[in-house]
Amino acid sequence: RTAELDSICLKAQIIPVITIQRLEDAVPMCRALVEGGLSVLEITLRTECALEAVKRLRDALPAASIGVGTVLTPAQYRQAEQVGADFVVTPGATEALYRHGVGSPVPMLPGVATVSELMTGWQYGYRRFKFFPAESSGGAKALKAFGAPIPEARFCPTGGISMDNAGEYLSLPNVMCVGGSWLTPKDMVEAEDWDGIRELARQAAQRFHL
Ligand code: 3PG
Repeated sequence: RTAELDSICLKAQIIPVITIQRLEDAVPMCRALVEGGLSVLEITLRTECALEAVKRLRDALPAASIGVGTVLTPAQYRQAEQVGADFVVTPGATEALYRHGVGSPVPMLPGVATVSELMTGWQYGYRRFKFFPAESSGGAKALKAFGAPIPEARFCPTGGISMDNAGEYLSLPNVMCVGGSWLTPKDMVEAEDWDGIRELARQAAQRFHL
């Protein structure tokens, strides 16, 4: 599990967190991100069309790693498995999700915001976590502090991350990648500005040497 997640995160230190409002945007928007150099994408289950979008992305962009995010229940986890997700991301974690993840063929990146939550995940065998919401849960300072008692845990912080502060997180030894919605700004998506999104991805990939 840990190795699988590491190989996905190694492919891209920056993971766009994407909420698809219009199903027809999914493929051109995600193609632009991949062409720009970001090939690991998280599609959130915050809209009705999210699962259908993941199915289309699997066919259209076979080289990309597609995760399903905002998974709150084992039922949603199963839906993510059925549409071919490469990984599952949760904003927080419950015992039910931890148990489901242990037996699932699809690895889970559980969300934690405190050391106690981290310890619960650790007990179930999880070693890789999402740190959410990163900026309001203490930011890079908090993650640095998590590294003292549990240095083996690695994180993907999300929530309030942008080009301006991504580097601060990525320089920590326990951060494997960062995620965020800043690569798909609402105005650009509404304007179907896929060239603009490709350029944003390219800048991020270049800046962080992907
Ligand atoms: C997530 O679920 O990871 C967040 O919604 C992304 O946070 P951001 O919108 O602040 O980047």
